[in-house]
Amino acid sequence: MLKNKSVVSIDDVSDEDILEVFKVSDQMSKLISEGKKSEILSSRIMATFFYEPSTRTRLSFESAMHRLGGSVISVSEASSSSVAKGETLADTIRMADAYSDVIVIRHPLEGSARLASKFSSKPVVNAGDGAGQHPTQTLLDLYTIKKEFGKLDGLKISMVGDLKYGRTVHSLIRALSRFDVEINLISPSILRIPQHVMSRLPARTKITISDNIEEDIENSDVFYVTRIQKERFTDQNEYRSVIGSYSIDGGLAGKMKKNAILMHPLPRIDEIAPEVDYMPQARYFKEAANGIPVRMALLSMILGGE
Ligand code: CP
Repeated sequence: MLKNKSVVSIDDVSDEDILEVFKVSDQMSKLISEGKKSEILSSRIMATFFYEPSTRTRLSFESAMHRLGGSVISVSEASSSSVAKGETLADTIRMADAYSDVIVIRHPLEGSARLASKFSSKPVVNAGDGAGQHPTQTLLDLYTIKKEFGKLDGLKISMVGDLKYGRTVHSLIRALSRFDVEINLISPSILRIPQHVMSRLPARTKITISDNIEEDIENSDVFYVTRIQKERFTDQNEYRSVIGSYSIDGGLAGKMKKNAILMHPLPRIDEIAPEVDYMPQARYFKEAANGIPVRMALLSMILGGE
């Protein structure tokens, strides 16, 4: 049960919670498609702190809260808050705790959302902590896959790109390891998935590491592409050495199975060519749109009821 709980890691969301998120997301999708709005959170306030840039996560969280009848207060960049005067994260969160009912935070440092949760009596939701995790992206990724295939078990899912710094991958691989899926990892050698992520996966997890993108794109049910996270590199020469490592163009996407889907948490830079947007496999904009019903579901589960 997620009631009054923080969601800092995908591990904070149980298997039962994931199924409930799917169920409630379907209800929220129906509400949206009917052009209706809910008032279930009309007395609730969400505070958002985005200390790193965001389009999808911030706007979809705020849209979700509005669609549930709730209110939103937000800090869109650290420089516009008292952080610029030297205030600590702990003190900032203490204030948000007093002013709101749920706190959504994106921060450049791994572990920051967990730290924030220690200083708040209200639930804290991690909207991305550095190269750590992005659990709500994972929920919408799982929901997107489930909606497409009607299941997660039995699928072959390839993850491509920056697996070292890509927090969406770190959360998603943990979540997928709970299902009977085949996971295939494709990245430049310097951007392999960190050992601390791999070592926490159950021993039964079926993982392959590959460098044959053409063969993998033909065989995968889900091809999950990620951006090289330029902002996380301490050595820009290292970044320059991996720019443009993977680019999915129409020719490559055309090799995908008929019912396979191409996903990307977005933003994309040059990993997927614009021509692919019009191909039947492209699912990344639908994936991003699913952020609304999924975040509505999550907020209603955390804040709803008595
Ligand atoms: N997927 C995602 O986190 O996008 P934003 O950085 O735009 O929020």
